[in-house]
Parts: sequence; structure tokens; C-alpha cells
Amino acid sequence: MGLARLKLEISEDMLRDTTLSFIGSGAMAEAMIKGILGHHLLDPERITASEPRPERRQELRGRYAVQTTADNIAAAQAGRIVVLSVKPQTLPKVMAELKGRLADDTLVLSIVAGMRINVIRRGLGAEAIVRSMPNTPAQVGLGMTVWTATSAVNETQRRQAQAILAALGKEIYVEDEGYLDMATALSGTGPAYVFLFMEALIDAGVHMGFSRHVAQELVYQTIEGSVAIARASGLHPTELRNQVTSPGGTSAEALYQLEKGSLRTVISKAIWAAYQRSKALGELPEK
Ligand SMILES: NC(=O)c1ccc[n+]([C@@H]2O[C@H](COP(=O)([O-])OP(=O)(O)OC[C@H]3O[C@@H](n4cnc5c(N)ncnc54)[C@H](OP(=O)(O)O)[C@@H]3O)[C@@H](O)[C@H]2O)c1
Repeated sequence: MGLARLKLEISEDMLRDTTLSFIGSGAMAEAMIKGILGHHLLDPERITASEPRPERRQELRGRYAVQTTADNIAAAQAGRIVVLSVKPQTLPKVMAELKGRLADDTLVLSIVAGMRINVIRRGLGAEAIVRSMPNTPAQVGLGMTVWTATSAVNETQRRQAQAILAALGKEIYVEDEGYLDMATALSGTGPAYVFLFMEALIDAGVHMGFSRHVAQELVYQTIEGSVAIARASGLHPTELRNQVTSPGGTSAEALYQLEKGSLRTVISKAIWAAYQRSKALGELPEK
């Protein structure tokens, strides 16, 4: 399996001549629209958002001045890049609707969790497909997206897909689709682990006597600061941890309890279980 980093300078010209359509215009589609417009990658009139609910269409038009429609086929035909952004359970119905309706040079960009390239290829009869796995922080532009592309995706389309995904935060290209199950377990599901850890820390603060909002602020800032120092120093987390662990001090005492409680093993087992689950879900027979 190959892991590769494509170099990308997001240039304002990268998408300018293309058109982009979203099939399903919920939270993630909105995050992408916001990021793309925020980076001035595309004019809003070149974006079409397909969405069944009239109030939602009106909301998107009002906020971003994009084109909206309730007609998935019209949307798919309006975009040279078509983003599949419906829920996984809606995708089979949508693909049946769109099969054979896409122009040959359409790039299909899926953000649908767990949906294999082969399923999309068969479902749509399309060849140029990018499959990506973003995560929830994409909604505030701090996402981590891992993506791969079929060999039918040409260099220009690849760069366009990369620019769209970069508008959600960081992105990493992988050569093998197998990495997407790993990414699902690590970064895709990752926010759930971090939220649980945050919750446990906040509850511990409250247990000692802090008010909940003070405990929350202490925890948020501590986590943000720790990530910032890890990035800025370039040091391995072990080194950073050793730096704050004085002999016989509070960190040493707390770390002893965390190791005694097998925190590291539990994390490793949890992520492995999520990885196995992701693979198993991807292998379920198609409906
Ligand atoms: N949220 C995340 O952080 C995240 C992370 C990684 C991957 N993803 C993937 O991103 C995809 C979208 O997630 P989301 O959080 O944006 O979900 P969402 O907010 O529920 O968006 C889905 C949208 O699709 C619309 N829709 C329903 N049926 C449709 C149809 N037949 N044709 C066209 N549109 C239809 C829904 O409209 P109604 O509201 O009217 O039903 C809704 O606006 C999912 O496949 C998910 O696996 C999400």
C-alpha cells in the first residue's frame, strides 16, 4: 500500500473554470461550500446544491448565493464535478436515479462514509471517482480528510478534488483504498474518542470542585495548547510528556494510574475494533 503526499498550493485558479454540484446539501456539503467560497476557489453561480427540502434550499441560496434544485439529475448534469454528500443509507437510491445520466468527463467525489469505490462505480456506471473520508471538524474548516482516486481520474481532476477537500482543512492522498478504513478508525471516528476524553477530564474537574464551565475552559485550552506545542516543537509526544514529568511529581503519579488502568491498551484495542468494523461494514452485501 502506498501513502503519498501531493503538493498543493491552493490557487484561486484551480477550480475557476469548472462547475460543482452537491447531491445532498446537509452539514458537510455546506462546510465544503463555505470553504470553497471562503478560499475564492469558485464563484457561487458555478455551484449547484441539490436538496429535497425547500427551506434548506432557500437557506443555502440566502447564505451563499449558490444555485439550488430539488432535482438530483439536473444538479448532476450541471456539475463537471459531482459531490455525493447524502447519508450512506440514501446513496443507493440516489445512484439508481443518476445511473447513466452523468457526462463521461464527470468527476464523482464521494464523502459518503464507508462507501467503497466499486459500489459507486457499479452504482453510477462512472469511472472517474474520488473517495474521501473527512471528519466532523471539517464543519469548522479544521477537518482531516484522507482520499484516494481511481486511475480514470486525470491530473487536473485530481488537483481539483484536492483543492475542494483542502477547503475542509487538511487532506492526505493515499494510493490504496485500504487506508480509508484505517482513516475511518483513526481520524474519522477520532473526534468521538477526543470528546470522550474531554468529557472525562471535565467530570474529574467537577468532581474536585470546579464549576462545569471553568472545568470545560481548562480542558479545552489544555488540549488546544498541547496540540499547538506538539506541532510547534516537532518533538515526539513521549519527549513532551517526559518534560512535564518531574520525579515524584503530580504527572508521574497520574501517569502511573493511567498506565495501571491500561489506557494505552484500551485505546489501541478500541481503534483496532473500529478498523475491523469499518472493513466489515464495507463488505456487507449491496442492497
Ligand atoms: N458529518 C460529518 O462530520 C461527516 C464526516 C465524514 C463523512 N461524512 C459523510 O458525509 C455525508 C453527509 O453527511 P452530513 O453530516 O452532511 O449529513 P446531512 O446533514 O444529513 O446531509 C445529507 C443531506 O442529504 C439530503 N437528502 C436526503 N435525501 C436526499 C435525496 N434523495 N437526494 C438528495 N439529497 C437528499 C438531506 O436532506 P433532509 O435533511 O431533508 O433529509 C440532507 O440535507 C454522509 O454520507 C456521511 O457519511 C460526514
